[in-house]
Amino acid sequence: MVSLDYYHHYPAQYEEWLTAGQERVFLRPVKPTDGPLILDIFSKLSPQSIFYRFLSHMEKLRPEQVYHLVHIDYVTEFALASVIEEGGEERIVGVCRAIAASDQSRAELTIVLRDDWQGRGIGKVMVKKVVMVMYRHGISRIEILLDSRNDKMKKLFMSLGYPYIYEESILDICDRMEIEIWPEKEGIIWQ
Ligand SMILES: CC(C)(COP(=O)(O)OP(=O)(O)OC[C@H]1O[C@@H](n2cnc3c(N)ncnc32)[C@H](O)[C@@H]1OP(=O)(O)O)[C@@H](O)C(=O)NCCC(=O)NCCS
Repeated sequence: MVSLDYYHHYPAQYEEWLTAGQERVFLRPVKPTDGPLILDIFSKLSPQSIFYRFLSHMEKLRPEQVYHLVHIDYVTEFALASVIEEGGEERIVGVCRAIAASDQSRAELTIVLRDDWQGRGIGKVMVKKVVMVMYRHGISRIEILLDSRNDKMKKLFMSLGYPYIYEESILDICDRMEIEIWPEKEGIIWQ
C-alpha cells in the first residue's frame, strides 16, 4: 500500500496524450482548480448521461459537490480527466474516478464522457488507466453501480477481460458489477 505522504501531491506521471480518431485528448489527474471545468462539462451532459453517472436526476451541482469532486488525495480517491481545447479554451470532456472503500478492500469506479465525446474509445482507455492506478495502490477489486439499461458501461467493463460478478437490483436502485484484477494481467492494463 502506498503511503498518503508519498502521493499527496499532484501525480504528473499520469499525464498522457491520447489520439481519438482525428482528435488529440490530454489525459491528466483532476486538479483543485478544475471547478469551472467540472461545472462546464456537467452543463453539457444529457439528462441520461447525468442519470447514468449519478444514478439520480440532477439539474446542477452544488458548490460543495464541486469542491469534493476536485479535491482528492490521489491515493484513496483518484480521478482522471480528458481535456481538449475548444474555442481557444480548455475543456474537460470526461472524468473517470475511483474511490476506495474505507477498509481498502475495493474501490468504486464512476465515469462520464460528454455526450459528443462518447463512442470514440476514450472511456475504455480512462477506465483501464484508473483501474491500473488503484491496482498500484493495492486495490484489486473494482466495482461499479449502474442502471440496468446501461449496456454501454456493462460491455465496457466486461471487455476489460477480468473475471467479474454481476448483481441485479442492489437495494432495488441499481445493478452492481465487480471485477477482480489479476496481477499477471497488469501488463495489459498498462497499454
Ligand atoms: C459509458 C461510457 C463511459 C463509455 O465511454 P465511451 O467513451 O463512450 O466508450 P468507448 O468508446 O471507450 O467504448 C468502450 C466500450 O463500450 C462499449 N460501447 C461503446 N459504445 C457502445 C454502444 N453504443 N452500445 C453498446 N456498447 C458500446 C463497447 O464494448 C466498447 O468497447 P469496444 O470499442 O472495444 O467494442 C460513456 O458512454 C458515458 O459517459 N455514458 C454516460 C455515463 C455512464 O453511463 N457512466 C457509467 C456509470 S459507472
